[in-house]
Amino acid sequence: MRILFVCLGNICRSPAAEGVFRQLAAEAGADVALDSAGTAGWHVGKPPYGPMIAAAGERGVDLSNLRARQFRADDFSRFDLIIGMDRANMSDIEMLRPADSKTPVRLFLDHAPETGVAEVPDPYYTRDFDEALDLIEAAARGLLAQIV
Ligand code: 4NP
Repeated sequence: MRILFVCLGNICRSPAAEGVFRQLAAEAGADVALDSAGTAGWHVGKPPYGPMIAAAGERGVDLSNLRARQFRADDFSRFDLIIGMDRANMSDIEMLRPADSKTPVRLFLDHAPETGVAEVPDPYYTRDFDEALDLIEAAARGLLAQIV
């Protein structure tokens, strides 16, 4: 299964989601192809944000080789599932949906109802990288359980 994680800048939440999910999927032996992208193009070509690389690294997840890219319309055909981190991501993603595309787009935290949280708060603004990673881990476990 090909899964694309999408946030705004592609330097905090979606690269973290990609890295955390890749690790969990490998541990579970799940066959997945993963990528992440941002709805905005500000950070194209850059590695994830330093504080997020550090916070993920503390949990044994290496994000340092990832590079930001912008979400685009042909991602609807290149992936089987597109995952947004918040509702603004969802509407920005949907604005680029080709008329003939039926690719599902889902909120990440829909896969972790036990958290009681609907959107992954943007740590670029909240500065709480561990809060974002806790939610990302919960959603990644829920999504993985659903697809294996
Ligand atoms: P992300 O966080 O969407 O989780 O990557 C952001 C990173 C950078 C900016 C906004 C959000 N920015 O405005 O540069």
